[in-house]
Amino acid sequence: MGAQRAKVADVVVRTRVNGEWREAEVWPGASLLAFLREQLGLFGSKNACEQGECGSCSVWLDGALVCSCLVLAAQANDREVRTVEGLTDAGRLHPVQEAFVEAGAVQCGFCTPGFVVAVADLLEKDASPSPATVREALSGNICRCTGYAKILDAVNLAAARLLERT
Ligand code: FES
Ligand code: FES
Repeated sequence: MGAQRAKVADVVVRTRVNGEWREAEVWPGASLLAFLREQLGLFGSKNACEQGECGSCSVWLDGALVCSCLVLAAQANDREVRTVEGLTDAGRLHPVQEAFVEAGAVQCGFCTPGFVVAVADLLEKDASPSPATVREALSGNICRCTGYAKILDAVNLAAARLLERT
């Protein structure tokens, strides 16, 4: 009989998610993405590549945009996470989400939460980004359906709407 591997004990992760402290036991190697989806039931962040290549799992960790598939859940302990679910305001879509719908920038929708988070992050930092800045900011997000043109239209629409509000 071969030697049995010792079971690795789960760890408790306590994280402030979209303004609310949440806690769960996770395997020490679990990603932040798995923690959000499987432990907290927040299915907005998508799991497409699990390699940091597609951006569909994008969230904010202490205000910085990260691929949640590349961050350990344990690394988010005692920190602040904001997900795509945190963008809605009392059930009302965020202007970036509205713009994606209106511009027809959603087809299968799998990439959409990641794009929405990346665009919201960009427009929070730069209210009127140049086309080159937009392309650079979205270079980590992959869409296999839309051809990107409508996504760029949605960014312009969202930027205009947000500027009108200020
Ligand atoms: S699932 Fe995280 S970058 Fe693709
Ligand atoms: S809408 Fe399908 S991958 Fe982007």
